[in-house]
Amino acid sequence: MRVLLAGGAGYIGSHTALVLLEAGHEVIVLDDFSNSSPESIARVEGLSGRSVTTITCDLSNLGEAERALQSVEFEAAIHLAGFKAVGESVQSPSSYYRNNIVSTLNLIDVLRAKNVRKLVFSSSATVYGVPQTERIDESHPTAQGLTNPYGWSKAMIEQIIRDVHVSWPELEAVLLRYFNPVGAHSSGQIGESPTGTPNNLMPYVAQVAAGQRERVNVFGDGYPTPDGTGVRDYIHVMDLAEGHLAALQNLKPGVATYNLGSGVGHSVLDVIRAYAEASGKDVPYTVTGPRAGDVSTVIADPTLANQMLGWSAKRSIDDACRDSSRWQEQNPDGLYHVSDK
Ligand code: UD1
Repeated sequence: MRVLLAGGAGYIGSHTALVLLEAGHEVIVLDDFSNSSPESIARVEGLSGRSVTTITCDLSNLGEAERALQSVEFEAAIHLAGFKAVGESVQSPSSYYRNNIVSTLNLIDVLRAKNVRKLVFSSSATVYGVPQTERIDESHPTAQGLTNPYGWSKAMIEQIIRDVHVSWPELEAVLLRYFNPVGAHSSGQIGESPTGTPNNLMPYVAQVAAGQRERVNVFGDGYPTPDGTGVRDYIHVMDLAEGHLAALQNLKPGVATYNLGSGVGHSVLDVIRAYAEASGKDVPYTVTGPRAGDVSTVIADPTLANQMLGWSAKRSIDDACRDSSRWQEQNPDGLYHVSDK
């Protein structure tokens, strides 16, 4: 299949591109490179031995997107284009809504005009808000008590896709709710390149282990969890990428929703210990106060994806720490500096 990856040069997109290429699909990456580097595509080409068509385009500009995709043939789209920093979204809500929502509307208009019916959307477990159950399945309420525009934009886009399906019953859409993506490809060639101070735990721990930052601030140890620190469902980015392939291969008319998580929870201290072990480096930490808006425990019930997609997460937190550490060692400044040369 020829597959368009909108936002395909980013962290999740580059790993997904590689998995699709290795499964024999053709990949067209559309990206504005505002938060990614063309170097990641070059590396995906190197790893797969296949070439990728790259289109530089701002998807939030309809005219630009229409022109860029006018003569491009593809049968399916995976939509990973969007801003994703929670704190930034609170500071700049209009730019988050404009970018994430308008890009989606534009992509849908282009798909409709070209009669491309297959769409996989990169959503997030953030749409569940504060978990009401120990493990979250897809029937858990969404769009309740969300605390930031990033989360709202994901919830709104899910609704937009459901509404589009009502008017376009042939649409074959899947909403993938990611839990906490971590790790890197085992080659250390592609991974996450955070700009500035990482917001998420594992890239922060990676920089502490590499000696680029002094210590990890553990955001609270008074949660009702075994060691008092927050528990999350960390999913290896290669498992996540394989989840996109499984979703693509199982599309049918309608809008299906799947959790992509491991079903296993790890605390902040578990991650710090696992990373120190995998990297052989010290990871000093200090317990600070809790981060505003954080919750105690978020763990996926991935049963539906296991059953319907024949997919499950196979890699452990130790695998993710080892791969992240290899990536960090080989690319201490991420990939941006490579393309700046
Ligand atoms: C965050 C986002 C969520 C997004 C997800 C993507 C927030 C409030 N939520 O979730 O919307 O979908 O990333 O991966 O930002 N922690 C520390 N020290 C740090 C960083 C994190 O102790 O320096 C702790 C957090 O309190 C949490 C755990 O580590 O318990 C994971 O944090 P993080 O990686 O930021 O992910 P989430 O908060 O789950």
